[in-house]
Amino acid sequence: MEPADDFNIKVSKNGPYIVFGKIPIIEYVINCDCKGIPIDWVSGKEYTVNEKCSLCRCGQSKNKPFCDGNK
Ligand code: FES
Repeated sequence: MEPADDFNIKVSKNGPYIVFGKIPIIEYVINCDCKGIPIDWVSGKEYTVNEKCSLCRCGQSKNKPFCDGNK
């Protein structure tokens, strides 16, 4: 997905990040060696988003990375 030319992220007070604009959202996970030592990041799932979405900032969403209204 090509990122939008124009996007904006609003940090809501005690709430999620509100993202305006169609941008790619890609999950990255820490890759560890056999001893559990972090060695790098690996890209994972890519999410399709519309012109506006809310990203969880509290860690409590059951629909991460998106806010489910828990906060
Ligand atoms: S910010 Fe909404 S569920 Fe985390």
